[in-house]
Amino acid sequence: MNGEVGARVEVRSISKIFRRSRQVTQALASVDLCVEPGEFICLLGPSGCGKSTLLHIVAGFIAPDAGEVRVDGIAKTGPGADRCMLFQAPTLFPWLTTIDNVLFGLRARGAITSESRRQAGELLELVGLGSFGGHYPHQLSGGMRHRAALARALINRPRVLLMDEPFAALDAITREAMQNFLLGLWGRERTTIIFVTHDVEEAALLSDRVCVMSGRPGRIIATEEIALGRPRDEVLRDTAEFVSLRRKLRERLADA
Ligand SMILES: Nc1ncnc2c1ncn2[C@@H]1O[C@H](COP(=O)(O)OP(=O)(O)OP(=O)(O)O)[C@@H](O)[C@H]1O
Ligand SMILES: [Mg+2]
Repeated sequence: MNGEVGARVEVRSISKIFRRSRQVTQALASVDLCVEPGEFICLLGPSGCGKSTLLHIVAGFIAPDAGEVRVDGIAKTGPGADRCMLFQAPTLFPWLTTIDNVLFGLRARGAITSESRRQAGELLELVGLGSFGGHYPHQLSGGMRHRAALARALINRPRVLLMDEPFAALDAITREAMQNFLLGLWGRERTTIIFVTHDVEEAALLSDRVCVMSGRPGRIIATEEIALGRPRDEVLRDTAEFVSLRRKLRERLADA
């Protein structure tokens, strides 16, 4: 992050309609969201409400029909190295080894140095893939592919990390390890994180603020500040405060 904290992300009156032959789907209707530099927010909403669409728009992969995205006050109309997206299904290049996948973005920019190779190795260690750098994606498990994709995103040191249910497919133990890993990383780097999840507990455990989206067309219908202290550990999950927060979020989601 070049010594900077995460960037401010503003989503202003974003609407999106998809047209496929005669079918018209309004995915998003006038979504407003402001994420402070270094804030960790979760987007929580029912399936099909437009969460992935919103992340793709913030990433600059899809153009909205109306509204705009600003990063640190600058309007963005396409992708950029300031924002990095982790997809719902991990996307690795099947013909590259794990370490070359991690280094792909840097290589494309001609920015590979011995230092970046060392960092890639270190990141693979961090995500528990230290001895799998030479493996190809088909030789990794599903969870390992997610972790490799995370390492690939992190090597760019993005100022905004957009995460689309990155841990949903993982087993409970790996998922918890990844959540803790992400929190540790965020605590150090203060990247701005927008994290999509279906999981109320995950949202409450990770974020500073949870934005609940309505069913399609997606809008933000409730925002809950998560005023729990950090670090958040297993003990926290059993506290009355956490249980009541989880219940509140579940109710908000039911209203969506
Ligand atoms: N490229 C596309 N063309 C047509 N319709 C699309 C396209 N992408 C998304 N949609 C539609 O937009 C709506 C929102 O989709 P989106 O993937 O954003 O939902 P989501 O909230 O991420 O759902 P989930 O939680 O299941 O991942 C859906 O009805 C989907 O069918
Ligand atoms: Mg989605």
